[in-house]
Amino acid sequence: MKATKQLKEEHQAVLLLLSILRKIREKIGRKEEIPSQHLEEILEFFKVFVDKCHHKKEEGILFPMITGAEIPEEKGLIGDLLRDHAILHEYVKVIDESFTGFKAGDQRNVERLMEAAKSYITLLTEHISKEDDILFELADQYLLREADERMMEQFEYIEINQLGSGKHKQFERMLERLEKIYLKKI
Ligand SMILES: [Fe+2]
Ligand SMILES: [Fe+2]
Repeated sequence: MKATKQLKEEHQAVLLLLSILRKIREKIGRKEEIPSQHLEEILEFFKVFVDKCHHKKEEGILFPMITGAEIPEEKGLIGDLLRDHAILHEYVKVIDESFTGFKAGDQRNVERLMEAAKSYITLLTEHISKEDDILFELADQYLLREADERMMEQFEYIEINQLGSGKHKQFERMLERLEKIYLKKI
């Protein structure tokens, strides 16, 4: 299925950014300076790419398809995944608020930011495993080819509306740049 393949590829980008965020947390823990622009770019990725685009494709299109197909093995999985999305959204809000406070010079926000980032990394990593290993397997097994074509059209619509043109490429370039800085050993 092309739709699940696209979502899986997006998961790979998200996991890469989570690895970068993990490194940044370690550096902050060692009191190393991090350019605030990097954290701003990462936050934008979570708010726009993950929340507004990726989660919208799942919540607005794939999840209702799965629920409508009445798959016996689904067993409340969609409910779990939706709860995860809501909690992840709250973590991003805390990261955003504490980062704003930190930029305004209030050091107490560092601890709050570190905790929220840790919770976000843990939950989103688990969440992605549940989708890749269980949900997408069910979708591939039960949804029909016509459904896949409809999903792909609707995904494209979301992408244009939520990201706008050129944003996807911009995120890709940002990922490559931050990967070189934080993950590649020279
Ligand atoms: Fe999800
Ligand atoms: Fe996902």
